Amino acid sequence: MKNVRVRALANLALVKYFGKRDLQMNLPAAGSLSLTLEPLSTTTEIAFRPELERDMVLLDGKKAADKFASRVSGFLDIVRDMSGTSEYASVVTENAFPTAAGLASSASGFAALAYAATKALGMTIDKEQLSALARRGSGSAARSIPGGIVVWNAGEKSDGSDSFAYPVAGPDDWDLRVVIGVADPGPKAVGSTEAMELTRTTSPYYREWLDSVHIDLMNALRAVEQRNFTDLGEITERSALSMHAAALAGRPGILFWNGTTVEAIHLVRRLRQQGTEAYFTCDAGPQPKIVCTKSDEDTVASALESLPGITRIIRCHLGAGVTEI
Ligand code: PMV
Repeated sequence: MKNVRVRALANLALVKYFGKRDLQMNLPAAGSLSLTLEPLSTTTEIAFRPELERDMVLLDGKKAADKFASRVSGFLDIVRDMSGTSEYASVVTENAFPTAAGLASSASGFAALAYAATKALGMTIDKEQLSALARRGSGSAARSIPGGIVVWNAGEKSDGSDSFAYPVAGPDDWDLRVVIGVADPGPKAVGSTEAMELTRTTSPYYREWLDSVHIDLMNALRAVEQRNFTDLGEITERSALSMHAAALAGRPGILFWNGTTVEAIHLVRRLRQQGTEAYFTCDAGPQPKIVCTKSDEDTVASALESLPGITRIIRCHLGAGVTEI
């Protein structure tokens, strides 16, 4: 069968996804909204071959660790089931950014894998079905299929067919920028699924968190429609802080931040006082991510770059959905 090579971008949730209604199907307890980030890309090449006795997975030029390889194989089993093939595949995947450090490598990774595998097997599936499939690998991967500004519906069905992501603005519709600071390039201490489950089952703030997501999502959608950056920025920062607050209140409390992350929150507040419109967000790792518009990007980038503990910054803009290359 044919070789397929695809490229997918990571995404950054402004309204966060944090909590599942179904663990096995990777169904979220609430919707979320994200920006698709160029140049945070994963490139994946796949070929299904009859002579293989198992899936062969290379990550960033090396044989992948067992945990990663079995996650890939588990996902490919779902695709094999759907398509009716029993062939194993060789998968060569490369991330253009630190893997598993809260920079959403699983989102671009599973979006790329879903598209590459279904294309290689000649399956006809539309973008919504592809997004729902990518979701099975990693929830946030559902949001890396469409491109631009994206909403992922929680959906209601138990088979997950209505839980997919769709675009609400194209990559060229609004020139938003994200400056990411790498505060620790190593792998994250707690995986996002484990953190979500611990928060769901032990945090006294989990319900309140979910209630707040519904309101934030509605308002964020309106802010996108009206291109109201102040509203979108305020919702972004609030959503991140609320998500981390719910996780912090878990037992034991989950703390993804390091000292540099906290300094970045102070920095963003100082920047705003000085008239630079910048908003903080952060995921399941310590890397601070600052959302701003094009006119403030240079100011934000040089401020973040000079923060002690930041080893590198990555400047991002909105990018396209998954593509064959
Ligand atoms: O689907 P996962 O396992 O990549 O979880 C993503 C969770 C957060 O990054 C913390 C929030 C989000 O919406 O991306």
